[in-house]
Amino acid sequence: MKTRTSVALTVGILTLAAGLIVVAAQGGPAATVLAKTEKPALSAKPTPTTSPASSATPTAKTAPLFQPPSEQDMPKDEFGKTVKMGQDIFEHTERYASQYVGKNSSLNCSSCHLDGGRLAHSAPLWAAYVSYPAYRSKNKHVNTFPERLQGCFKYSMNGKAPPLGDPVLVALESYAYWLASGAPIDPKIAGRGYPKVPSPPLPRDYARGQQVFEQHCAVCHGADGAGQPDANGQPNFPALWGAKSFNWGAGMGSLKNASGFIKANMPLGLGGSLSDQQAWDVATFMNSHERPQDPRFKGSIADTRAKYHDSPDDLYGTTVNGQLLGQGTPPDSQGAKK
Ligand code: HEC
Ligand code: HEC
Repeated sequence: MKTRTSVALTVGILTLAAGLIVVAAQGGPAATVLAKTEKPALSAKPTPTTSPASSATPTAKTAPLFQPPSEQDMPKDEFGKTVKMGQDIFEHTERYASQYVGKNSSLNCSSCHLDGGRLAHSAPLWAAYVSYPAYRSKNKHVNTFPERLQGCFKYSMNGKAPPLGDPVLVALESYAYWLASGAPIDPKIAGRGYPKVPSPPLPRDYARGQQVFEQHCAVCHGADGAGQPDANGQPNFPALWGAKSFNWGAGMGSLKNASGFIKANMPLGLGGSLSDQQAWDVATFMNSHERPQDPRFKGSIADTRAKYHDSPDDLYGTTVNGQLLGQGTPPDSQGAKK
């Protein structure tokens, strides 16, 4: 796709420039980042890893992956217009559905569902579409597909769920349905969700995660994790934590999801290049920082942890480096714009 390629190229060029600055400043390990990120992003399939514990990573999967239809086959009729609107909302959520996006959010749906929701192992929309209705332990009832879409607005986008039947949900559902053209109805379809990264050999570690972050992530997501805004036609690098990121109720807050997403997809264009250990460590570092409060907050961090976050994969309500996590960011970063 044209737009994607130019984003990928710009990402490469930006990284090249940023890498040069870092290299000039410290002559350090950023040189490897520089050389590697010249590859175009998103075309990359996960590459083999040297980690012995990686047998469950996407590279080892043998089932053929479903191929969604290509953009030029999008219907040109009235239905096609709604499909296209769904794609626009998915890739530029702030521009086309701002009333449901968190005030400060720097994210689009496609920040975590890469290549416009097409990329396998990045929770692609075509696999999601054929997997609902489904029971979810998160809210303890059978969710329809539109209800599943609502959840990502409320938590991942730190915004507000569009009401059922809202044109925004109709457009997103139409886009997902079209992407799934010809796919079997099967919640076990290959490429669904994010891959499961095996438990690392060493316990997850904040300090090692910080090193991975500084070496492989900060160049795009910023040294403070706040991302870099979309300016002068350059792509948006979304925030990994803080007021502009997903909130404490989001799925990416689980270390399992975060390590899987990161291992398969990050650094952008170099999915599969981190070891399992590095993926877990950097996910731990990322999720050890404050972000907007969980909208289900019960008035106390301990009660909210007990009710919604009681899992070893979840750092909400735990103490890291003397800081109790789950305090949230300032209240004006919470909730949708309008
Ligand atoms: C911060 C990252 C993030 C953002 C932004 C995000 N999502 Fe998600 N999304 C996730 C995670 C994590 C999951 C859970 C994946 C899993 O459980 O396998 C998920 C799951 C989903 C699913 C279900 C996938 C499945 O196979 O069951 C759908 C559909 C979905 N998101 C749509 C959206 C839409 C629409 C938006 C924008 C309004 C959006 N997401 C924004 C991270 C994100
Ligand atoms: C070359 C630039 C680049 C590098 C390096 C990079 N990312 Fe990203 N990352 C992106 C972009 C761009 C997106 C959004 C994807 C899109 O819009 O297509 C993203 C999305 C994400 C997201 C989901 C959205 C969010 O903000 O929560 C996470 C999590 C993430 N990256 C983590 C990492 C981690 C951890 C590293 C280091 C191991 C890393 N990234 C390295 C460019 C980069």
